Amino acid sequence: MNIILLGKPGVGKGTIAKLLQKDYGFVQLSAGDLIRTEIKSKSAIGKKIEPIVASGKLIADEITLLLVKKALTKLKKKNIIFDGYPREIKQAKMLENFAKVDLVINLEAQDKKIINRLSGRRICPKCGAIYHIKNQPPKKEGICDKDKTKLIHRNDDKPSVIKERLKVHKTQTKPLINYYLKKSQLKKVDANDNPKNILKRVLQLLK
Ligand code: AP5
Ligand code: MG
Repeated sequence: MNIILLGKPGVGKGTIAKLLQKDYGFVQLSAGDLIRTEIKSKSAIGKKIEPIVASGKLIADEITLLLVKKALTKLKKKNIIFDGYPREIKQAKMLENFAKVDLVINLEAQDKKIINRLSGRRICPKCGAIYHIKNQPPKKEGICDKDKTKLIHRNDDKPSVIKERLKVHKTQTKPLINYYLKKSQLKKVDANDNPKNILKRVLQLLK
């Protein structure tokens, strides 16, 4: 079964994808994580996309497609959660050429919660674990529970870039809601709650 997780930046796509991966037999395919790994590798593509990601805009479809396809080949026939892909109708149509989509879940939360979630987020640059200084703090402040790496604040989590990412979501990604509604593939999930309760709602849909 393949699922797409849609939702505004910071709504909790990565958090829910990781919970589904941990206990429910899914594998998370996060476009954002693939992109950050490419940037970290300092490849020619990485250098080209770094300023675009830092500005909060979307990178070119061809590059995301390349990264997603490469990751998908490695995952073979597992149950995939597409997190952050597709982000435009054009990408959704591209995805249909190489993967089947069983369900699209749109996580929905109020903007003030989203901004609070993003501004307090910390991530582990090594394993990708997601924390929040108040909502999901690590056991030891600033240190990853899993591998003891120093946590970082994503550089696109600055207030001005968050504003741009929300704008990009509204104009480029939001039209996907109607696109998948028309195909009867979309379900909405209230994501104003804590991750445990959101996960329960998602699991209910998967039954
Ligand atoms: P990406 O990394 O996908 O960023 P995003 O969509 O902006 O989403 P985030 O990862 O910021 O948020 P999330 O929903 O995963 O929330 P999280 O679980 O971390 O993309 C980054 C960039 O890459 C894009 O801007 C673009 O440049 C490029 N890109 C990516 N995909 C692309 C594509 N397809 N095409 C072109 N370009 C692309 O949670 C956030 C925080 O909230 C955490 O601190 C967490 O602990 C906390 N939290 C989570 N859930 C809850 C909860 N229920 N209650 C309280 N706190 C919570
Ligand atoms: Mg994410």
